[in-house]
Amino acid sequence: MHLELTARRLVTGTLVFVLLATVLLVVLPFFRLRHLEAPEGLHPYTDAQLRGREEYLRQGCVYCHSQQPRDPSQAPDMKRGWGRPSVPADYVYDTPHQLGTMRTGPDLFNIGARQPSAAWHLGHLYQPRAYVAGSNMPAYPFLFEVKAEAEAGETTVAVPPQFAPATGVIVAKRAALDLVQYMVGLDHTYPAISPHPKQGAAGPLLLPTKDPAVLADIKVGTAIVRDGVPGAGVAACAGCHGQHAEGNAAIGGPRLAGQSDMYLDAQLAAYADGRRKDPIMLPVAKGLSPDQRRAVAVYLSRLSPPGAAAGPPPEHAVLERGERLAWFGDEALHVQGCVNCHGPAGTGEPPTIPYLAGQSESFLGASLHAWRDGRRNTDPSGQMTQIAKNLGDADIAAIAAYYASQTPPSPVAEAGQPPVTGKKR
Ligand code: HEC
Ligand code: HEC
Ligand code: HEC
Repeated sequence: MHLELTARRLVTGTLVFVLLATVLLVVLPFFRLRHLEAPEGLHPYTDAQLRGREEYLRQGCVYCHSQQPRDPSQAPDMKRGWGRPSVPADYVYDTPHQLGTMRTGPDLFNIGARQPSAAWHLGHLYQPRAYVAGSNMPAYPFLFEVKAEAEAGETTVAVPPQFAPATGVIVAKRAALDLVQYMVGLDHTYPAISPHPKQGAAGPLLLPTKDPAVLADIKVGTAIVRDGVPGAGVAACAGCHGQHAEGNAAIGGPRLAGQSDMYLDAQLAAYADGRRKDPIMLPVAKGLSPDQRRAVAVYLSRLSPPGAAAGPPPEHAVLERGERLAWFGDEALHVQGCVNCHGPAGTGEPPTIPYLAGQSESFLGASLHAWRDGRRNTDPSGQMTQIAKNLGDADIAAIAAYYASQTPPSPVAEAGQPPVTGKKR
């Protein structure tokens, strides 16, 4: 009897576990990702490339090669020259995808950009050690034929003399040619499109709530962002910060969405009392009553629109310097890494420390200059002023470019938590 109960529990428990895992790992990702659109810079595979990918599968290249550069917080893939972290949209034409997990050889996500020469690829496939001494990649001579001479239309492969056959020429078979077409087609160097799914496809744009006080703030805040406060001479925030506060790089209006309500409220107060000097925001902040400021801050903190359109990717060297400063700082300049306070991925430490990831280059640059010139005096510890004073113009530009290329955080992660200023009431 007892045994039967235990067995029943075991079976039920197992079934529930499998069901949960399926929902988490299969069903949810499917719904999150099914609305992905192809990035502009990504082209569908040609027939030859599709055949080449079949060959890639058949030869098991995936067992040694990945096609998924990781985020700098997980691995230094960008420094290895493998490219920016991949996002789901990069794989829209890949069924089945060839992500791979093993990295006996380099990541091939951008091999077409790194090594565009078909002749090199053919030779390397025929004999890797002819190109990279000591390579432990297997040779694939069976994808080639050695003949007395090539016929019309056939592709011959030139390899260094010590690796060439004693007599005759090496001719690439169709499989080798297809495989190389696939290799040189792997080029994902276009700018990443935001991994955030389209509005409404997954996480809501506005964090849901049933708290009546928060609902009232959201109502007031929505109206202020859309229309401003005409009677008090306050222009609509949307005009300069974007429809959903996603930021407006052209005007230098920062992204406000998802920044903590306490931080936003404090900044509005600082503009109003002159601790933060900005001729544009001064009349806006002064025109809002303390209640209106708090309400709009609560509303903004609960928004999670996709990132604003990113510009062209910055130069590799600039990005590298910015990344270095962000993670390690620069001892010679007496600047500590921004990660120490702004979080490893620059996603902030709410409620007091703002996120930097996904802010525009123009705003981040202007902001650091404002700290440096003393136009902003909102950090009681004085740390930000000191850091900005120790940074030169080039370093400010580099760090701005780096954080602008990162993904902004989404408040959806903290769903269910009341706003900070809401808690105090
Ligand atoms: C046993 C592991 C292994 C397998 C299987 C393997 N490779 Fe490699 N591959 C490597 C290693 C190690 C390197 C680095 C040394 C070199 O370039 O030869 C490499 C390098 C490469 C490079 C050059 C990458 C660069 O960044 O320069 C290409 C292209 C490549 N492999 C394609 C393939 C293809 C296509 C297949 C399947 C037909 C394949 N590899 C199978 C281990 C492997
Ligand atoms: C005419 C354009 C304009 C309008 C309208 C405007 N802003 Fe701004 N806002 C800016 C600019 C530009 C900055 C950056 C100024 C700076 O560097 O300090 C800014 C900065 C801010 C900041 C500081 C954010 C941060 O991360 O440091 C807050 C908060 C803010 N605005 C809120 C609002 C709200 C709320 C409204 C509507 C009631 C509004 N703004 C309307 C242009 C505008
Ligand atoms: C010791 C902690 C600390 C470190 C280290 C630090 N920051 Fe900050 N930073 C802050 C605080 C606190 C604020 C918010 C101050 C306030 O309330 O206005 C801030 C604000 C900012 C802002 C304004 C953002 C906005 O939305 O207005 C920028 C830009 C910034 N930091 C950049 C950096 C960079 C770049 C580094 C690394 C070189 C860095 N910070 C390192 C504490 C730090």
